[in-house]
Amino acid sequence: MSSQSLGSLSGRPVTITGLGAYLPSRVITNDDLSQTLDTSDEWIRQRTGIRERRIADPGLASSDLGVMAARSALADAGLAPEEVGLVVTATISPDQLMPATAARVAYQCGCLAAGAYDVSAGCSGFVFALAMASSAVAAGLEDHVLVVGAETISRILDWEDRSTAVLFGDGAGAAVVSAVEATRQGGPSGGDAGGSGRILGFDLGGDGSGADYLQIPAGGSRLPASCATVQARQHYMQMNGHEVYRFATRVVAESAARVLARCGRRTEDIDLFVPHQANLRIIEGAVKKLGIPEERVFTNVDRYGNTSCASIPLCLTEARAEGRLRPGDLVLLMGFGAGLSWGACLLEWGEGGV
Ligand code: UT7
Repeated sequence: MSSQSLGSLSGRPVTITGLGAYLPSRVITNDDLSQTLDTSDEWIRQRTGIRERRIADPGLASSDLGVMAARSALADAGLAPEEVGLVVTATISPDQLMPATAARVAYQCGCLAAGAYDVSAGCSGFVFALAMASSAVAAGLEDHVLVVGAETISRILDWEDRSTAVLFGDGAGAAVVSAVEATRQGGPSGGDAGGSGRILGFDLGGDGSGADYLQIPAGGSRLPASCATVQARQHYMQMNGHEVYRFATRVVAESAARVLARCGRRTEDIDLFVPHQANLRIIEGAVKKLGIPEERVFTNVDRYGNTSCASIPLCLTEARAEGRLRPGDLVLLMGFGAGLSWGACLLEWGEGGV
């Protein structure tokens, strides 16, 4: 492979044949949060653009939300669960450290023969999982891979820490990734049969020197769970918001430029930009640097907050429902988060709606 084609997807053409989303019905507004935290609707809206978020009912785990989104995506693709060869779940709030959340998602969806594993790459996880799924399909390892971004971040938030508690929400989104040659007509969205949809390429990256900026300190092999770690609230997410903010506003424009160059496209060609929904100010800053017109940017952070690995597939599902994805559209997906990590994906939307 020449260095010029590095990052652009080679092998069998790959496309997205189904999308699905699931959001818990319980809405928590900024005013609700200000009842228990020293915060205000004004502060949260001004600094983040968030108005409200969804929170899953007690007893529900990330796999439960993921299953709902995955079932919708399979139905959308017109695919029987047993046709799925791999299930990849991206999450920062797994059901457990072991087994993989994907194992439960695969089983509950009826993907009984599928291999199942999780991707842990912070809020970039969905784009990383999409890259792994696309590579497996392009290389001929599988015809269909189910990619799920599922989060119950409410379980790993410190509800006494106003600097993180106001930012996140629960939700799940899913996409079916298929070989173009294995698609067929007949699904509710018509699949991609005869369509022009293609996943074109990726830019994946990281900087582990920032690993401490966004972390759950305890509960792993570095700091095993103990009474002391529980008392010190070290099983909750901790973030250096300022450093993550600086990192995010820098890498989004850089990574976008790289993936565009790798695929031989220009910023002006982008029809829809779907960034990770961390903070409206980060998105606005990146869009300004990139030079993408506002009307070509999709946001829903105001309604759901930061849903980490679920944010991009949630946006795609909503964008399609709103008619903002048309056949032939060039779409840029951009994830960034813990690791620190980033991941960009460039794709062309297909005839069948995907
Ligand atoms: O998914 C990827 C991971 N996450 C992100 O991308 C988040 C990246 N970071 C951010 O979005 C921003 O840094 C935040 C929204 C987290 C914070 O915004 P900021 O403008 O950087 O605020 P700050 O951290 O500089 O805090 C400013 C002030 C502080 O008070 P003092 O020290 O100036 O008196 C904070 O204590 O705001 C205070 N503050 C709050 N006040 C009311 C922090 N959180 C809150 C709050 N309500 N919820």
